[in-house]
Amino acid sequence: MQPHTTVGIVGGGPAGLLLARLLHRSGVDCVVLESRERAYVEHRQRAGILEQSTVDVLRSSGAAGRLDREAMVHDGIELRWNRHTHRLDFPALTGGRRVWVYAQTEVVKDLIALQIEDGAPLVFGAQVRAVEGADTDRPVIHYTHEDRDKTLTCDYVVGCDGFHGVTRRAVPRGAIRTYERVYPYSWFGILADVPPSCDELIYAHSPRGFALHSMRSPEVSRLYLQVPNGTDTDDWPDERIWDELDARFAIDGDWKLERGPITARAVLPMRSFVTEPMRWGRVLLAGDAAHIVPPTGAKGLNLAAADVVVLARAFAHLRATGSEELLEAYSATCLRRVWRAEHFSWFMTTTLHTDPAHSDFDARLQTSQLDRIAASRHAAAELAENYAGLEIG
Ligand code: FAD
Ligand code: DHB
Repeated sequence: MQPHTTVGIVGGGPAGLLLARLLHRSGVDCVVLESRERAYVEHRQRAGILEQSTVDVLRSSGAAGRLDREAMVHDGIELRWNRHTHRLDFPALTGGRRVWVYAQTEVVKDLIALQIEDGAPLVFGAQVRAVEGADTDRPVIHYTHEDRDKTLTCDYVVGCDGFHGVTRRAVPRGAIRTYERVYPYSWFGILADVPPSCDELIYAHSPRGFALHSMRSPEVSRLYLQVPNGTDTDDWPDERIWDELDARFAIDGDWKLERGPITARAVLPMRSFVTEPMRWGRVLLAGDAAHIVPPTGAKGLNLAAADVVVLARAFAHLRATGSEELLEAYSATCLRRVWRAEHFSWFMTTTLHTDPAHSDFDARLQTSQLDRIAASRHAAAELAENYAGLEIG
């Protein structure tokens, strides 16, 4: 007999792992197929900021033990422009919402450990080649594991395999619409063994380009610089990176950027991308497989978590009642939040970065918008609500 599961999950990143956790807890059986090995997945440097609702779901699914001990709670961010700085106080502006600094690598480690301990099967090194039969009631996942070609039949397949995954291809051309914007700049991200030079994140607009000061722990800083697309990390010796960061964060007044050994560096292109709908037949897409945001504003991981919360609820409802009603609403429910996050991430990106094709006029519009956020509680609250995150609908 062919191996079979209720929900076949392609991809063991944050979306796939959290979905598996939520399904397992509501008694829905599933299998996760992840192409990479465990160590690779656990060390891939990515997101750092968790919204309130992401933390809430990790807590309610029993996956927040270490997070609650080790994560840093942040009640605001700093915006810098024209050599001055302005703090946004999230709880005051949002009625109590805040964010957590806890790296994606740690979320993934915690979810993998739980799944191996008492969860659904999780297969590393399982390269999914294709998903077939989206329009039948028995979709099939074809994958290669330990040099052997295998199949898994499913009641449903969920593609949590990121932007470059294969599940999206199971949908016939024309049945799905995509929206896309590519940005004319990238981020150069570093990790440095030096205590953060700030208590909260700093987003800096400067004529030299955007810079972001984030952190991973009280000992490790995470910093990003806007650079042209195609930038080679070899052209940036450590000294040049620190000098450029210094210039972009500079304010009138006392503040010093501490320097330390750089332990990781990478250039990341930026893109907005949405797939509509996020379901076709018995194949559903979640997280980066369905949508991408540019990183400014830290929405990607949080959107992935929000998708799978909606999806897990829909599968639990199907199991309890036999009704597909919530699964049918899945795409529309998620897309409302997705488009809000797309707009916010685009807004943060285009307000804070220097577009090489833009004029001084555009730069003045940016600083005028930042002045407005500093002057108006309404404008500040709009940013804070989006940043700290909306309730999961
Ligand atoms: P992924 O993390 O991409 O996981 C997909 C998984 O599928 C991977 O493990 C991959 O190996 C696997 N896979 C792919 N193809 C196959 C296949 N054929 N067969 C089997 N498995 C497959 N978001 C935030 O919310 N906050 C932040 O602060 C933030 N900062 C970021 C900073 C950077 C530098 C970057 C790059 C991203 C950042 N993001 C942030 C975005 C966030 O990292 C992503 O949105 C998040 O990883 C999406 O999770 P996912 O599980 O949907 O996809
Ligand atoms: C981080 C990434 C982001 O995109 C962001 O807006 C804030 C923080 C980070 O990696 O720490």
